[in-house]
Amino acid sequence: MDSSFTDRKVLVTGGASGIGLACARAFRAAGAQVVALDRASGPSDLDTVHADVAYEASLSGAVTTAVERLGGLDVVVGCAGISGPVGTPLVDTSAADLAAVLAVNVTGQLLLAKHTYPHLSTGGAIVFLASDSAFVATPGMAPYCASKGAVVALTRALAVELNRVRVNCVCPSVVDTPMARSDLGDAAIDQADFPVQTADDVARQVLFLAGPHSRPVNGHALLSDFGYSARSGFPA
Ligand SMILES: NC(=O)c1ccc[n+]([C@@H]2O[C@H](COP(=O)([O-])OP(=O)(O)OC[C@H]3O[C@@H](n4cnc5c(N)ncnc54)[C@H](O)[C@@H]3O)[C@@H](O)[C@H]2O)c1
Repeated sequence: MDSSFTDRKVLVTGGASGIGLACARAFRAAGAQVVALDRASGPSDLDTVHADVAYEASLSGAVTTAVERLGGLDVVVGCAGISGPVGTPLVDTSAADLAAVLAVNVTGQLLLAKHTYPHLSTGGAIVFLASDSAFVATPGMAPYCASKGAVVALTRALAVELNRVRVNCVCPSVVDTPMARSDLGDAAIDQADFPVQTADDVARQVLFLAGPHSRPVNGHALLSDFGYSARSGFPA
C-alpha cells in the first residue's frame, strides 16, 4: 500500500472531474486527507467545497472552510481550468473570450496560492496544472495557450517568492477527461492516432511534484508529452 502521504492534508481545485478527481483519489489512496474545491459537484464520496476560483471572495471563503475541515494544509493542487474557444480563428476571438479564460486559468491559480499560502505547512507544496499548450500550439486556441504560458511563468514567480513551500506545475499533452472529450469529440480520443494520457497518469506526476522524492525540484514545469516537443524540424 502506498502511504507516502499519510495524514497529509491536501486541497485540490477542479477536484470534481477529470485530472482533479484523479488527483484527489490518488492522494487519498496514498493516505492523505483530501478536500476538493469546485464550482460543480463531484462524486458523493468526495468531500467538496463549492466555489468559483475566479472570484476572490468565493475562493477565500472556500479555502477557509477546507482548511478548517482538514485541520491544516500541506499540499495544494490547482486543477480547475477551462479551455475557452477551440478551433476559433484569432479574428473571431473576442477580448471577452480571453478575459474568461485568463480569469479561471491564471487569476484562479494566483488567488489559490495567495489564499492557501498562509495556511501551508513549512515544506509544503503547490502544484498547478498548466499544459503542453504553454510550449506548443494548435491553431484556434490562442487564449488557452496564452493562459497556460502564464501559469508556467506564475509557477516560477511563486517558487522564487514563497520561501516556505515549493511551487511546480505539470504540462501534459492531451488527457482523456470530460474537457478533452467535449473539446475534441469522443472519436478523436477513442480512435486517436497520437498518444493520449489518462487522468491517473497525470495524477502520478502531480504526486511526484507534491511529495518528498521531488524535494530539490522548485519552479519546474514538468512537460509530459511523450517527447513530441523534443523533435527537431529536420526530417530525420
Ligand atoms: N484534458 C486535457 O487534455 C488537459 C491537458 C493539459 C492540461 N489540462 C488542464 O488540466 C486541468 C484539469 O482539466 P480536465 O481535463 O481534468 O478538465 P475537466 O473539465 O474534466 O475538469 C475541470 C474541473 O474544473 C472545474 N472548474 C472549472 N472552472 C472552475 C472555476 N471557475 N471554479 C471552480 N472550479 C472550476 C470544473 O467544474 C471541473 O470539475 C485544467 O487546468 C486543464 O487546462 C487538461
